[in-house]
Amino acid sequence: MLELANKRIVLGLTGGIACYKIAEFVRRAIEQGATIDVVMTEAATHFITPVTMQALSGRPVYIDAWDARMPNNMAHINLTRGADAIVIAPASTDFLAKLAHGMADDLLSTLCVARGNCPLLAVPAMNREMWLNPATQRNKVLLEQDGVIFFGPAEGEQACGEVGSGRMIEPDQILADLIAFFQPKVLAGHQVLVTAGPTSERIDPVRVITNRSSGKTGYAIARAAREAGAGVILVSGPTALPPPHGVQRISVESARQMHDVVMQYARSSSLFISVAAVADWYVANASDQKVKKMTDQAAPQLEFAPNPDILAEVAAMKGGPWCVGFAAETEKLDEHAESKRRRKGVPLLVGNIAQLVMDADVTQMVLFEDSGKTALPPQPKMQAARALIAAIAERIPRNTL
Ligand code: C5P
Repeated sequence: MLELANKRIVLGLTGGIACYKIAEFVRRAIEQGATIDVVMTEAATHFITPVTMQALSGRPVYIDAWDARMPNNMAHINLTRGADAIVIAPASTDFLAKLAHGMADDLLSTLCVARGNCPLLAVPAMNREMWLNPATQRNKVLLEQDGVIFFGPAEGEQACGEVGSGRMIEPDQILADLIAFFQPKVLAGHQVLVTAGPTSERIDPVRVITNRSSGKTGYAIARAAREAGAGVILVSGPTALPPPHGVQRISVESARQMHDVVMQYARSSSLFISVAAVADWYVANASDQKVKKMTDQAAPQLEFAPNPDILAEVAAMKGGPWCVGFAAETEKLDEHAESKRRRKGVPLLVGNIAQLVMDADVTQMVLFEDSGKTALPPQPKMQAARALIAAIAERIPRNTL
């Protein structure tokens, strides 16, 4: 699935050392199907060459307001007409100041003033003192009032050696934010709590019992909820996955830890999506020391005690979030999923066939609710996650916000 198919982006580079990272962004965006028209300020050409940007984008690069290559000589108008967005990355202190005041003294600034309805996205990159300077902060407020959307900046080490806010977000994060920008904001204003992955129950310090779960579905749902405009907390059991950009991940191991974190955030959430494959039991006689293997002794006997049912507990909370459960079944999906939905007391339960979706990149979700069942088509997990978020947005009562 190409995430930026049929999208034409005008990418403006302004003067900053972060220009070198934009080469990578262009590669990744083109891989996702985007067409990129690069425009550079004169300052940007000191940090990365137009030749590099032309080779990567496969299209002419524009710098000069007097460039006569366009038949009507109006690059500042033509480039944004029909474009899906202008992305200014890196956006320098100077360029933000120019933008905020409508100045138009080179091709890129003129093109921004002439953009009409074309969305303008700014990815700041500058020293922390420049970012925190009252004039820059004032310009940011002005630009946001004008509808400019900011991606970042991030905190961290800066090229100058100082540490703080103002660092450009990474190329893969710019890409994630750009893809998110094009998604409908159907969960704007919502605070979403998602659980994902397996839980891991200790037998001793080196051995655990766990469920099979890659976490891919839960992570995709957390990302899709954030793309839809929600604030997202992802409570995750052990997985190998990086946290989705813009999502707050809280890592846990056992079901009881997951329970405690979920209870901490449930009341302030408007939506709880319980995707985790939670272990039903923990080992009641877990050992503090490694259990030694003695050839002459019988295998150790494990005793189990039930874990809390996190979903049922949140669903029973008065004034709690709207709840969506998951059920992976190996047989009789309809029967098991619908009875689980009723037992847990949730308005929506998503069923899937465990053998088909486990570890896979494709899934098929079947929605069970009071009005009956709806099968979504088999599709990549990210697409399925977006379809589920759209279905939830249609169903969640307005007063849950
Ligand atoms: O009971 P079962 O594990 O089959 O139910 C699946 C659903 O319940 C999933 O949404 C899962 O995240 C949730 N669950 C839970 N706490 C448990 C067991 C399952 O929240 N202890």
